[in-house]
Order: sequence, then C-alpha cells, then structure tokens
Amino acid sequence: MTLPRPVEAPRESGALARAVASRGGGARTRGHMNLDGSAQDPEKREYSSVCVGREDDIKKSERMTAVVHDREVVIFYHKGEYHAMDIRCYHSGGPLHLGDIEDFDGRPCIVCPWHKYKITLATGEGLYQSINPKDPSAKPKWCSKGVKQRIHTVTVDNGNIYVTLSSEPFKCDSDFYATGDFKVIKSSSR
Ligand code: FES
Repeated sequence: MTLPRPVEAPRESGALARAVASRGGGARTRGHMNLDGSAQDPEKREYSSVCVGREDDIKKSERMTAVVHDREVVIFYHKGEYHAMDIRCYHSGGPLHLGDIEDFDGRPCIVCPWHKYKITLATGEGLYQSINPKDPSAKPKWCSKGVKQRIHTVTVDNGNIYVTLSSEPFKCDSDFYATGDFKVIKSSSR
C-alpha cells in the first residue's frame, strides 16, 4: 500500500535561501554540523547554560528571543511550561517568534507566520495532516514528519531563565538557518 506523503514547498523557495544562493554560498562547517548534512561529528558537544532573562518578564510577555553561544533562539512560556527552539523555521527560515501558538491533536505548536507549518513546542516535530486517498471519507490524521526544529533546554534558577543548547549530534533541518552563511541574527525581521 502506498502511504500518502506531505507536500512541502522546496527549500529554495525561501527568501533567505535565495539571498544566500545569490552570494554563491556553499556548504561550510560551523560548530559540529555540516550545512550540507554530509557528515556529522560523532562527539556530543556540551554547552554551558546562558542566562537569557528573568522569569517575571517572560511570564508577562510569554516569549522572548536571545542569542546563546552565537545561536539565535526563541523561548516560549506556554501554559506553565518553558520551551526553547531555533528561532528560524526549518522550512525556509521564517521568524517563529512572530507565530501564533495553537493546539493540533492536543499538542501545542508554533505556527510559522510565513507558510503556516506547525512545529510542536515540546519536541520540534513538524506536523502534517494525512489522508488516505483510497478512503477519502476518512478523517485526516495529524502525523509527524520527524524532528525538524532543534529544541533546547530551559531551566529556571532563582528567578532567572537559562537556556542550554541542544548537544544532540543528529542533524535538524533548522540547523540550516542557524549556522554558517545562512544564519540571520535579526529577531525583528519578517
Ligand atoms: S518558513 Fe515556511 S513554514 Fe516556516
């Protein structure tokens, strides 16, 4: 049986991808990841925690942005829980800190403001709705594309919020926009 597959716009359609391609940017290594995904450093890198703000402040604003070890992240405070992830959407680099949070299949997701992709706050999985073309009357189901957005760890100590970057060596799609030539440190840009 052939399983239905999600339809995704090509990565090259993003404005950031076009901008970098026009500069002739190629694959380069930054930190422990290769942008072309051709190789992975088998070692885990450990990052120190970085204080990004006060608990009182994020509880009011419900989100904040920060640069942690040269990586731009967004931190959400949603329904009593903290979540941190790469700020640029894995699809084409959209600004996730400007998206809305909605529940899909009972899972809180950030909805990217550019093309409305849904990313779970807890795990960074991209979600899509699947239908069975052989049974079009069946209700579409929310399914996972796998982990696409890199998730980081948030801790609270003495009223301060700390972010520890993910040390997982596996490649996330969002690494593409968080490292090397593709990195954009401009939280307010759309
Ligand atoms: S950039 Fe396309 S959905 Fe986020």
